[in-house]
Amino acid sequence: MIHSFPGNFPIQEYLRLTVNVTGKHNNMGKFNRENVTDEGAYVMDEQIKQVLADLEASGRENDARETDRAMKMLNLHPDTAKKLSDLALSNHSTRILEIGTSNGYSLIWLAWSARENGGHVTSIDKDRAKQELAAANLERAGLTDWVTLRAGDASEILSVLDGPFDLVFLDADRIAYPALLTQFLSKLTPGGLLLADNVHSHPEEIAGYLSALAARDDFEHSVDPVGEGLSIAYYRPE
Ligand SMILES: C[S@@+](CC[C@H](N)C(=O)[O-])C[C@H]1O[C@@H](n2cnc3c(N)ncnc32)[C@H](O)[C@@H]1O
Repeated sequence: MIHSFPGNFPIQEYLRLTVNVTGKHNNMGKFNRENVTDEGAYVMDEQIKQVLADLEASGRENDARETDRAMKMLNLHPDTAKKLSDLALSNHSTRILEIGTSNGYSLIWLAWSARENGGHVTSIDKDRAKQELAAANLERAGLTDWVTLRAGDASEILSVLDGPFDLVFLDADRIAYPALLTQFLSKLTPGGLLLADNVHSHPEEIAGYLSALAARDDFEHSVDPVGEGLSIAYYRPE
């Protein structure tokens, strides 16, 4: 089922209902009061904000200079990364999987959200050198303990990866998403979120994935225009 944003959208309704009004609990039963305002907003540590700002600047500079696509960082738009984090926090996601680590920009947002939720992120990338950059960036941000990095082809790693996951973020080879969806679906928990970037920037490449989602009746699906277009699917099997 596909809905367009904004509108009467079950995922929004679901998230609205599941966000704790005080914003002070997580689903591991822990409280992170020092990171939450009285209005329920999560406050990111200054150290993490600084690393993210550095990565935004260096990523822009690197990607403008590099002509070889493999050498670009291709980080998520900051607004999309914030949206990803908001979704993880409000859905109380604790078992997060990212496909496409690069140098760890979106991963830092997810790892911070996982830390606030008492959870953990596993992130896959076939480029070992980029994952080494990600490891260093996570260390600088103080988030190493909330992340497991797995180097290799997403399909190969997925075949040996234990689930379940309650949030999966796809940001890699878009043509491969339909096959990956088939592969990890059994590891996605009911109520879980499935997110994918680049709906508006790469419509042809992501069309197969969107069709695969639309053909299923166990996902509520929408596209948020944030950044390059974020596909948001909420897994709701019978
Ligand atoms: C757009 S970048 C990820 C950006 C990252 N999410 C961020 O916002 O910082 C895509 C990454 O996917 C990786 N990738 C592409 N195809 C892959 C595959 N089949 N298996 C694993 N990683 C893959 C690339 O090496 C690249 O680092």
